[in-house]
Amino acid sequence: MGFSFTHFPTFKTQRFILRQAVVDDCHDLFELYSDEEVTRYLPLAPFVTIENALDELDWYDTIFKEQTGLRWVIEVKESKKIIGTCGFLNYEHAHNRIEIGYDLMPSYWGKGVMKEALQCIIPFAFETMAIHKIEAKVEPANQASITLLEKLNFFKEGVLRQHEFEKGKYIDLAILSLLRSEYKI
Ligand SMILES: CC(C)(COP(=O)(O)OP(=O)(O)OC[C@H]1O[C@@H](n2cnc3c(N)ncnc32)[C@H](O)[C@@H]1OP(=O)(O)O)[C@@H](O)C(=O)NCCC(=O)NCCS
Repeated sequence: MGFSFTHFPTFKTQRFILRQAVVDDCHDLFELYSDEEVTRYLPLAPFVTIENALDELDWYDTIFKEQTGLRWVIEVKESKKIIGTCGFLNYEHAHNRIEIGYDLMPSYWGKGVMKEALQCIIPFAFETMAIHKIEAKVEPANQASITLLEKLNFFKEGVLRQHEFEKGKYIDLAILSLLRSEYKI
């Protein structure tokens, strides 16, 4: 059982198409990740060249080929603009555990976009990938991300103290998780 990583799944939600990224998406991804508001709590420096976006696209390809994750771009149905991304990484096959990640252009914040996207990919993880536990690592000051996860029934397990060295300093990471038994569609 489980997901074979032979083809990349595409989903339609009410407002968006979640699909595999293509090279042409590099311009929208550059716009997304060159914004300091977006990268503030991410382990990424703001992008400065289009090469940074192409490297990110390479990473999306790599995690899919290595069967350690999937990253969808979030495309607005009407305009076809890519406004964010979401997906899974660090798939631990032996433990049926995976990590979730996401980001969105600030002009679209607070409109239920990421909730709509995650309500689509979380059932895919539990039902098609046979995942047992989804975890999220979030900087404790990233209230938007923590609230989003809590609204999706994620449970805060605790704080990993000074867990990563990012942007010149050691940072704490809150760890939240959702078990298969706790999720509701
Ligand atoms: C985190 C992020 C993806 C949230 O996306 P979003 O589309 O604005 O979130 P939603 O509108 O779907 O909100 C989901 C819930 O969280 C709440 N929420 C969203 N932003 C909030 C904020 N700043 N403060 C408090 N609550 C917030 C919403 O009210 C909503 O609750 P509801 O379902 O009761 O209405 C977005 O802020 C972002 O891209 N941040 C930068 C990148 C980032 O930090 N990624 C995560 C790294 S761990």
